[in-house]
Amino acid sequence: MVFPISQIRRRFPSLSVQDGNVSRTYFDNPAGTQVPVSVVDAISHYLLHNSSNSGGNFRTSQETDRIALQAHEDMALFLGAKSADEVVIGQSMTALTFHMSRSIAHDFRPGDQIVITRMEHEGNVGPWLEIAKDKGLEIRWVDFNRESWQVEPEDLQAQLTDRTRLVALNYASNMTGSINNISALAKVAADAGALVFVDAVQLAPHHLVNVQDLGCDFLACSSYKFFGPHLGILWGKADILSSLYPYKGRCVSDKSPDRFELGTPQYELLAGLSATISYFEEIGQLCGGAGNRRDLIAQAYEACRAYEEPLTNRLIAGLQATPGVTIYGISNPNRIGERVPTVSFRHDGMSPDSISKSLARAGVQVWHGHNYAYEPACALNLPLDEGVVRIGLAHYNTQDEVELALEEITKAVT
Ligand SMILES: Cc1ncc(COP(=O)(O)O)c(C=O)c1O
Repeated sequence: MVFPISQIRRRFPSLSVQDGNVSRTYFDNPAGTQVPVSVVDAISHYLLHNSSNSGGNFRTSQETDRIALQAHEDMALFLGAKSADEVVIGQSMTALTFHMSRSIAHDFRPGDQIVITRMEHEGNVGPWLEIAKDKGLEIRWVDFNRESWQVEPEDLQAQLTDRTRLVALNYASNMTGSINNISALAKVAADAGALVFVDAVQLAPHHLVNVQDLGCDFLACSSYKFFGPHLGILWGKADILSSLYPYKGRCVSDKSPDRFELGTPQYELLAGLSATISYFEEIGQLCGGAGNRRDLIAQAYEACRAYEEPLTNRLIAGLQATPGVTIYGISNPNRIGERVPTVSFRHDGMSPDSISKSLARAGVQVWHGHNYAYEPACALNLPLDEGVVRIGLAHYNTQDEVELALEEITKAVT
């Protein structure tokens, strides 16, 4: 089956925007993806026809309640959760993690330990450092292996003790792109009696998550990284969510997820979130898929990966052939399945800032800096004020765009 790239691109109006006579090439995807018309339509339809609040006896309020429930059900389906009650939706992964860290660590005692990997984005570091300060907890770190670019179970094991209460794990790095074997790591942590909190923000745009297969207790992601609105989503095991101490107002329901969703939700974005999940199903259909909703989503991911992987290998090979370039991450094409298409590099003669500016003049949008992968940048001894150039692909990018980026990088550095 040929990947229906033209049909897919037509769904994203932003892909055909030109600035003057310069076309835009979106390689800034790890920081936020483009959004298809169907998602925007769902958001504007809610605002234009149903804008309201929840819990009333009238039409728009009932429609609002339906939309909110549907969004939780759709996310439960998307993440492989047992029920919509396990899905907490909020402003962002970082905001949800800060909020939940207070409940999760409510019963932790001074001297208890939280283990964090050096692969984490700051969204899965800051909340734990702060709660550790509040409660006198000890933080222990696990480095990633410089050859595999992954966190190795034995290195995690070495940091666990009978005081370990929680392990914070990165599913896929927003700097190196490498994917961790979460099942193996979660097993090591769970065997030591620790809770496991997984950051799947960078994995979810490229791989179907199945929370029930992973052996973790919490998993967070952000829908603006997978073609949806600016929201964060947190899954937690039902029994754990209901046993945690909730920080909430007195009149808020004590049921999950209400007990963790404070104030008025962004209902229009919840409508957009459901449309985002439908978008994956539509891609599954476009790619010749069949079966139930989750089957279609799984087939969408497979088709997108089969399309993206050769592009990523071409990007990596082109960068490797550019004198002075160092890639930080897996570069062996045979290991392409162990990374997401996020490729970070530095050049020995030109700063990431200058390279990204030069690419921007040609319409090629890439990120520079540490991009909140502060721990990985420190672990790799990168200059923190410079970081890396980061090129991140999505399923709507093309081979021509990859060639353009490579040409522009060569021009910039020679
Ligand atoms: C791996 C990873 N974790 C967490 C986050 C934070 O997500 P949010 O912006 O939803 O807080 C990001 C954002 O780039 C990320 O890449």
